[in-house]
Amino acid sequence: MEKTLVLIKPDAFTKHYSGDIIKRYEAEGFRIVAMKLLKMDERLASIHYEEHIGRPYYNDLVGFMTSAPIIAMVLEGEDVIAKVRKLNGKTNPAEAEEGTIRKQFAANGRRNAVHASDSVESANREIHIFFNETEILDGQYEAME
Ligand code: PPS
Repeated sequence: MEKTLVLIKPDAFTKHYSGDIIKRYEAEGFRIVAMKLLKMDERLASIHYEEHIGRPYYNDLVGFMTSAPIIAMVLEGEDVIAKVRKLNGKTNPAEAEEGTIRKQFAANGRRNAVHASDSVESANREIHIFFNETEILDGQYEAME
């Protein structure tokens, strides 16, 4: 079973869209196996977005991501990495398909509501930036379903 990291970004959090966004993931059948509310600082943002350091939008991205609380969560499911990226929609909501989370909740390429890992490698890396193993409750649902 695959896992991915999702961040509900400051724009969605401050506009009280978090519940609606989480509902979209749950409706797809993905399991929430870890979740926390936190405020990113520049150091955490530079670790999470290390591959973007030096890009023209990097300072804007970090300024935005550290501007208000975010929700970090780990979702688990079959092919969850690709499925969540598809459900989130394109980075720029103007290009996002109808029915995607960004089409509904994002304003532009910066204030775009959600982040999700784009590969197995980035999911493994990103999940462990936000969570330690004891905070990831995978394998603990089966007995209840
Ligand atoms: S992708 O698909 O994740 O690789 O998207 P990409 O277009 O490469 O953008 C990478 C992340 O940078 C954010 N971004 C910006 N932030 C602030 N200002 C501007 N102008 C800007 N352009 C891109 C974009 O939202 C992506 O964030 P994440 O969290 O990875 O989705």
